[in-house]
Amino acid sequence: MSTRDLWNRYARYFNAEENVVFPADQPELDFYKQIRKDYTGACLEIGAGSGRLAGSLNRESVTIALEPSDSMLAGWTVSDAGFVVRVQAFGESMPFRTGSFPVVCFPYNGLQCVPEEEKRVGIIKEAFRVTAPGGVFLLEVSPIFARRGPEPLTERYSVNIPGGARLVLKEKVERRRNPDSIRYHMFYTTVDRHCETTEQITLDLAVTSRDEIVTLLMESGFCDIVQWGNYDRSTYDDELSPRLLVLAAKGI
Ligand SMILES: C[S@@+](CC[C@H](N)C(=O)[O-])C[C@H]1O[C@@H](n2cnc3c(N)ncnc32)[C@H](O)[C@@H]1O
Repeated sequence: MSTRDLWNRYARYFNAEENVVFPADQPELDFYKQIRKDYTGACLEIGAGSGRLAGSLNRESVTIALEPSDSMLAGWTVSDAGFVVRVQAFGESMPFRTGSFPVVCFPYNGLQCVPEEEKRVGIIKEAFRVTAPGGVFLLEVSPIFARRGPEPLTERYSVNIPGGARLVLKEKVERRRNPDSIRYHMFYTTVDRHCETTEQITLDLAVTSRDEIVTLLMESGFCDIVQWGNYDRSTYDDELSPRLLVLAAKGI
């Protein structure tokens, strides 16, 4: 299944999880707000989904939201869409001129959602190309996924969603090699007064490491790479950090 088809099917559940099932991650939102205070000017968000971070990224100046999935793009609220230009495209071939954006970001493990290595490399090269000289690229990944092992099928949640239905997730986690990835087998059951339907979504997340990411950024031309281990800008630690946030510069 293509990435676009996968996210077209997954959007409904991803957005329910981010907006209803789990509370908003305030430190994450504050982190992106602060990035936009520190680095002003036009901002490009790669893999912008349904605009979850729009309110944090877009207050300061114009933002372009690049997203390949029709369903994710359809999920934007009117207020978020109001101050953002949405562009339907893939990160590995962006329809922008070289050096267009002083700030480029690819948040929330978006890079790991791209299973093919050559496409991930292509996205970082494109990110470098479209970043303005003197600008920055912010990338968020989770190397800690490398330590995730297989997990048997279990129920993860069962919650009421807007509209009166109940959403139940059962999930099995498979660890795969060649390429190194984690496969989530997700079974979403929607129960309402009239019927019960189950849809299976299979999502592969690429496993990556700090060294791999830093090497990739440097080989693509970025320099002055700052690394944080969480939204509080603490130092990255391979064993303990829940995520890796890298801020990479493009020289003048
Ligand atoms: C984990 S979601 C994050 C969405 C949004 N940034 C957020 O934080 O809610 C990853 C997003 O990356 C998008 N994506 C997948 N492959 C992509 C690609 N090749 N180029 C750009 N975006 C892609 C997906 O459609 C999805 O919306």
